[in-house]
Amino acid sequence: MVTATHSTEASEDARRAAIDHLWMNSRGWTEMAESGEPNVLVEGSGVRVKDASGKWWMDVNGGYMSVHAGYGRTEIADAAYEQMKRLPYMANTTTAEPTPKLARKLAEITPGNLTRSYFVSGGSEANESALKMARAFQQRTGYPGRHIVISRRGSYHGALGQTMWLGGLPGQHREDYGPSYPGMVYAPQPLPYRCELGGRTPSECAALCAEAVKSLIQFHGEESVCAVIAEPVASPLGAAVPGGEYWPMLRETCTRYGVVLIADEVVTGFGRTGKMFAVEHWGVTPDVMTVAKGIVSSYLPIGAAIATEQVAQAFAGGPNSKNRQLNHTLTFSGHPVAAAAALKNIEILETENLVDNSEKTGKYFLESLEELKDKHDIIGDVRGLGLFLGVELVKDRETREPLGQEADVGARIGQKMADRAMIFRAYQSSMSIGPPLCITRGEVDEIVRALDESIAEVSIDLGLGV
Ligand SMILES: Cc1ncc(COP(=O)(O)O)c(C=O)c1O
Repeated sequence: MVTATHSTEASEDARRAAIDHLWMNSRGWTEMAESGEPNVLVEGSGVRVKDASGKWWMDVNGGYMSVHAGYGRTEIADAAYEQMKRLPYMANTTTAEPTPKLARKLAEITPGNLTRSYFVSGGSEANESALKMARAFQQRTGYPGRHIVISRRGSYHGALGQTMWLGGLPGQHREDYGPSYPGMVYAPQPLPYRCELGGRTPSECAALCAEAVKSLIQFHGEESVCAVIAEPVASPLGAAVPGGEYWPMLRETCTRYGVVLIADEVVTGFGRTGKMFAVEHWGVTPDVMTVAKGIVSSYLPIGAAIATEQVAQAFAGGPNSKNRQLNHTLTFSGHPVAAAAALKNIEILETENLVDNSEKTGKYFLESLEELKDKHDIIGDVRGLGLFLGVELVKDRETREPLGQEADVGARIGQKMADRAMIFRAYQSSMSIGPPLCITRGEVDEIVRALDESIAEVSIDLGLGV
């Protein structure tokens, strides 16, 4: 991936320590050692990060599409520092000031009656918690047999016990961890460019894929289906934006059959798609919404599963055993330092109109990508909503024949972008682009120029013209 030279002794020491002792996200240390990786970063500002040799890079996807406010926001660091000095953590059975304030803030800015937050350390934990809420909710409201969870092929919801079995992509190597969690059932992804059900327009694809969820519920029997979980715009296949019918239909089906609808806004939340939460594009309120990443622009680990009043009421506690508390305890739930950082981050998103920038600059970015598509036959499709964009590379634009895994196109693009001081990791031939929401048009132009050159070079390398 990213190759760099590290001049200082300290950085070489850190790099060696990483090779000898660190287990990084989905990377093997042997190939990293061979290519002089990992790059050790020391500083960041806006959309850029500096490595230990003093070289600045554009971090195209801002961490894991998660550094919404950009790097170097000392206000967030100060908020965390002040809280850490005063009270770094809290005694068992108590809370600390920033945590309930953050819960109230989320109740204010999320749609509908999503009013109660359970805090966690990240997106996978948020979804694990949401599934526990959904299962327990069904048990308590008289449906103990509802155990099936429907997710969509081509989705991602996390890396833990249940969540790793939701969604899925070829080449994910889940066979290492089998057998699967029981009750996992899969629906088609409403990706209009490759509609599994043959829909010819986004609307047709949306309606067919939403109907497929309904058919699955009917097939398995509503008395056995617990929840449907979906990202408003899915990332693994490169910003799969569904037609406008999809989410309202999903909502209607779940309401009709008493199935808990979980919207995974871990990527899309906090302005990524040009609205504070992506479900707002379609006027839908899920029963549980999960968030992480952008809630704190990744400055500290925090996420949440946010339930509607109706779902939360089943866990209110008190003399009625049907409403007993949710037995679910994580040591770092509601961490006050992370909560203080998140409150400051949300304040920045609001006062600096970064959601609005996501909408406007996202449109500009999408138009620029459409111009690239006119230039390069290898680009099959470009798509996106706000600053959540996707580019899909193909072998043949007419037939939409995909580039096989053997073309290794994701790694090739990553290397070409690295040659241009851009850190960008693509998943095979579907590229998701999600820069910090503070990005300017000038910075978008830089990324588009680098993509233009990288795609041209990869096309030639693969013998597919320009
Ligand atoms: C949609 C979605 N849900 C959940 C997760 C898991 O979040 P985390 O990596 O914070 O556990 C991710 C991670 O990228 C994600 O994209």
